[in-house]
Amino acid sequence: MFAAAERRLAEAGQPEVLRFWAQLSEDERGALAATVEQQDPAELRAHCQAAARARLAGQAPLSGLMEPLPEEVIGGVSRTEAETLRRWRERGFQEISKGHVAVLLLAGGQGTRLGVPYPKGMYNVGLPSGKTLYQIQAERIRKIKQLAEEMLGGKCTLPWYIMTSEFTLEPTERFFARHQYFGLPQSDVVMFEQRMLPAVGFDGKIILEGKGRIAMAPDGNGGLYRALTDNKILEDMDRRGVRVVHVYCVDNILVKMADPVFIGFCVERGADCGAKVVGKAYPTEPVGVVCRVNGIYQVVEYSEVSQETVERRNPDGQLTFNAGNICNHFFTVEFLKSVTEEFEPKLKPHVAVKKIPYVDEEGNYVKPEKANGIKMEKFVFDVFQFSTRFAVFEVLREDEFSPLKNAESTGGKDMPSTARRALLWQHYRWAVQAGAHFLDSKNNRVPVLSQLQEMEDPPVVCEISPLISCEGEGLEERLKDQEFHSPLLLTE
Ligand code: UTP
Repeated sequence: MFAAAERRLAEAGQPEVLRFWAQLSEDERGALAATVEQQDPAELRAHCQAAARARLAGQAPLSGLMEPLPEEVIGGVSRTEAETLRRWRERGFQEISKGHVAVLLLAGGQGTRLGVPYPKGMYNVGLPSGKTLYQIQAERIRKIKQLAEEMLGGKCTLPWYIMTSEFTLEPTERFFARHQYFGLPQSDVVMFEQRMLPAVGFDGKIILEGKGRIAMAPDGNGGLYRALTDNKILEDMDRRGVRVVHVYCVDNILVKMADPVFIGFCVERGADCGAKVVGKAYPTEPVGVVCRVNGIYQVVEYSEVSQETVERRNPDGQLTFNAGNICNHFFTVEFLKSVTEEFEPKLKPHVAVKKIPYVDEEGNYVKPEKANGIKMEKFVFDVFQFSTRFAVFEVLREDEFSPLKNAESTGGKDMPSTARRALLWQHYRWAVQAGAHFLDSKNNRVPVLSQLQEMEDPPVVCEISPLISCEGEGLEERLKDQEFHSPLLLTE
């Protein structure tokens, strides 16, 4: 066991990884040898060298090279007539009912900012129902499927692929099994695992987080493309007749699963790759923007842009770079095949300089106060550059985007309370639109508030199960001209 690991690590230029071998238990040795076994020595060497180099190189500012999106690739909810939106929706539902659509969840992240010791999808943001993100998403899939079946007749399948990592696979599997897959057919829920990469010190050496443990991290949500190949997922999609895929992040509580309008829009445009975006909340909002750089579509991170570019406005007053990326993408299976077969090696990893706990030369565990290492990640959106027919779909933030990133204790944005509030505001708006009235404790009607105030709760608590409505549709018969006390929990 030692000899094999030693050979591999020598080839990779990382023999120090075994420096505590003599002090390890049999189990620890086995685990370390298994981690080393998973790494290709040449790739490992290149990874460590690239990490050290990338930190020194820094990132070229992109401001001068950025161009806004051409109008012809953009569509959007508020810029489109109702009739066209209806047509896109119908087209999307047709694709779903024919079994051409799959949803793919990126759930391999460590969720370090949220800081819970389990996968983020298992988080309950404190809704009256107590539902977790996974449950909400599963129920939205069930509802969309049901609507497609009702609309077009006959049964259909809407498979849900879930990319996990070493951190999230087992707990996610157990959670789904314990909850009977939230009512979805088990065969339509396909979990697979992305690869892990070692964190690297500034000297290009692999960091040990324990005497027998390499500090490993998932290879970014752009690890998707290698994971699709590793796990033969595109073959599975072919077998099921899937042609287009809706890819999204686990943490957006408002995500519209397999959104028929977005799918219909992309399919009608003949897009091979599409991105949903929202207008930026304010110029310096730290989100990536979808734009072109030297004529090529990409997402430019906030940190890569000068203040002047961030603030730039068009003659009509709108921000020039306003298309905030919300990690909500459309891909054809054909496009994903071209990426996995041809383009993936061209994806450049991004460098994240982080504080990474390590063991020092004496074997003491150290929690660094300053950044001491590098994690390299690929990003899912970096494949936009390979699209030959790219499409962008602008949606309303209050309807579609409220990510859960940070712990409540940060007191800032994108926390459990902001996610909960975003969903409760949305359901309150749906209920009012459907004609519901809410009563206070003295049975007086609570005045309707239409203005979203992100930091305040809606005037009443109303939660509507996704199994009843996924976009506010079909609520009149249950709510019109009826009076309710808060909290109202509408369940099937
Ligand atoms: P984030 O970049 O927000 O990372 O991921 P995170 O892991 O959830 O949280 P932090 O940064 O550690 O606090 C955006 C989406 O990409 C997925 C996440 O699960 C989330 O859905 N992701 C991220 C992966 O699937 N794999 C990765 O390696 C990283």
